[in-house]
Amino acid sequence: MGTRARVREALESGRVEVDGVDLVRDRTLVDATCRVRVDGLQVTPLPSEVMCIYHKPAGLLTTMTDPFGRACVGDVVPPAWQGRCGPVGRLDKETTGALVFTDDGALHAAITGAASKRYRLTVQGPVSDEQLRSLEEGVEITRARVSEALRGRFTTAPGVAERCEGGLRLTIWEGRNRQVRRMARAVGLRLTHLHREAVGPIDCPLEVGTLRELTEAEVASLHELGPSRVESDARTAQLLTERCARGGLDPGPGQAGQALE
Ligand code: URA
Repeated sequence: MGTRARVREALESGRVEVDGVDLVRDRTLVDATCRVRVDGLQVTPLPSEVMCIYHKPAGLLTTMTDPFGRACVGDVVPPAWQGRCGPVGRLDKETTGALVFTDDGALHAAITGAASKRYRLTVQGPVSDEQLRSLEEGVEITRARVSEALRGRFTTAPGVAERCEGGLRLTIWEGRNRQVRRMARAVGLRLTHLHREAVGPIDCPLEVGTLRELTEAEVASLHELGPSRVESDARTAQLLTERCARGGLDPGPGQAGQALE
């Protein structure tokens, strides 16, 4: 229903009924078997934990509220989830695709620490083998949002890249600010659209703007990843080695193993 203040206001103004009885006058204890109505409308109990995936459209900020009133993803989650859950990671305003909402700390850690993120990059012009190889091996990009004293460059961890219609697919295990855009720019790609197709084993819902609960199997598969970056780095290195072997690319001395250190 909303914040505590809104709930109290609804209770005090007699808008809440439990099994047909005005809740304020009759101080009723409520459990899951009760039929609760607010302003005459049936209220559906929420799951005890929020674990959802949303297909974010372009134009929404990845924040639950915006002090300037700009459209944000918080506008699309049920009001009762406000202040309770948040998006895991961030998609830029113009990026579309998979965004998980949760209030579960372990799930949050698994997604940010260990889950892969698969992006589809629509680009202008062809994609060269050299560009694919650079994206897979890791590219040097500038650090964002650090103090001037710490400003410097870092090399992204290995990823997996392959051509697809309109551009390429890139799977990475990191999630730094605007990372994919900065990687694309660093290798000279002209990105026209960025879409996140999947978070770990979870595909983005097909329809734009759709929010759905994760299934038990999906939640379990995320938990299985655990919070570890080391494991995910090992997997990255292995994938990179396989990919290079498949595509006749040479990962270069120590490159694939580098992520294991
Ligand atoms: N990387 C980006 O550059 N932007 C996004 O929205 C997500 C990942």
